[in-house]
Amino acid sequence: MSSNIGFGIDIGGSGIKGARVDLDSGEFVGERIRIDTPQPAVPEAVAATVKEILDQAEWDGPVGITMPAVISGQVAHTAANIDPSWIGTDVQELFSRHLDGREVTVLNDADAAGIAEAVYGDERARKGNVIFLTFGTGIGSAFLVDGQLFPNTELGHMVIDGKEAEHRASSAVKERKGLSFKQWAKRVSKVLKAYEVLFFPTLFIVGGGISRKHEKWIPLLDCTTTVVPAQLRNRAGIVGAAMAVQRHLQP
Ligand code: BGC
Repeated sequence: MSSNIGFGIDIGGSGIKGARVDLDSGEFVGERIRIDTPQPAVPEAVAATVKEILDQAEWDGPVGITMPAVISGQVAHTAANIDPSWIGTDVQELFSRHLDGREVTVLNDADAAGIAEAVYGDERARKGNVIFLTFGTGIGSAFLVDGQLFPNTELGHMVIDGKEAEHRASSAVKERKGLSFKQWAKRVSKVLKAYEVLFFPTLFIVGGGISRKHEKWIPLLDCTTTVVPAQLRNRAGIVGAAMAVQRHLQP
């Protein structure tokens, strides 16, 4: 087995998940651990849960952590689908304090998933101007230029025809409104076309849980740019987090 092992943690609205990652292959080593996100999901409670996952995994090395927020200078600047008390939190200070001062990197969840796809996923993610998108509770985005990340793009909040993209076309909206794949694909197309007009990407990669059923909706999209499903699926965030700390990234 490879000795190039890291650890990634993905903080989501309902669950906090962590696993050891083989950084040569991008595969998990052993079980993924999941603990329900504490409610309210305030920084101190979430950090304590992160510590619990690491204790359960018996991992005391560096750790990469993703969350659904803009992370710049290791400070959280937004909190769209998490507790508003994260805004302004020095996440580096918070997690180092809870995790005995070990090396920690915190980054946006979609950015983490995007860098993981660029390294371990579809080889087309490594060339050109790629927009990687995750469809879940919100819409997350990562811009990749020849595989290099331009962080914190937040395309899910772009206002299209008076409505934020993620309020129009996240997979949570599909579920909430009981939309068919055909109805939902129409909404996704509108969003992708708006992105095309502004950014002219060479490729869209779509991830998030719903990408598992990609054959039900990608063929229905009518944008010009090629759209391909993400390959790492729900592994991507954790893998990207482990990569980020190994590379000493500090967005
Ligand atoms: C957040 C992003 C996040 C995305 C996916 C959005 O609401 O603003 O930071 O990447 O959801 O979780």
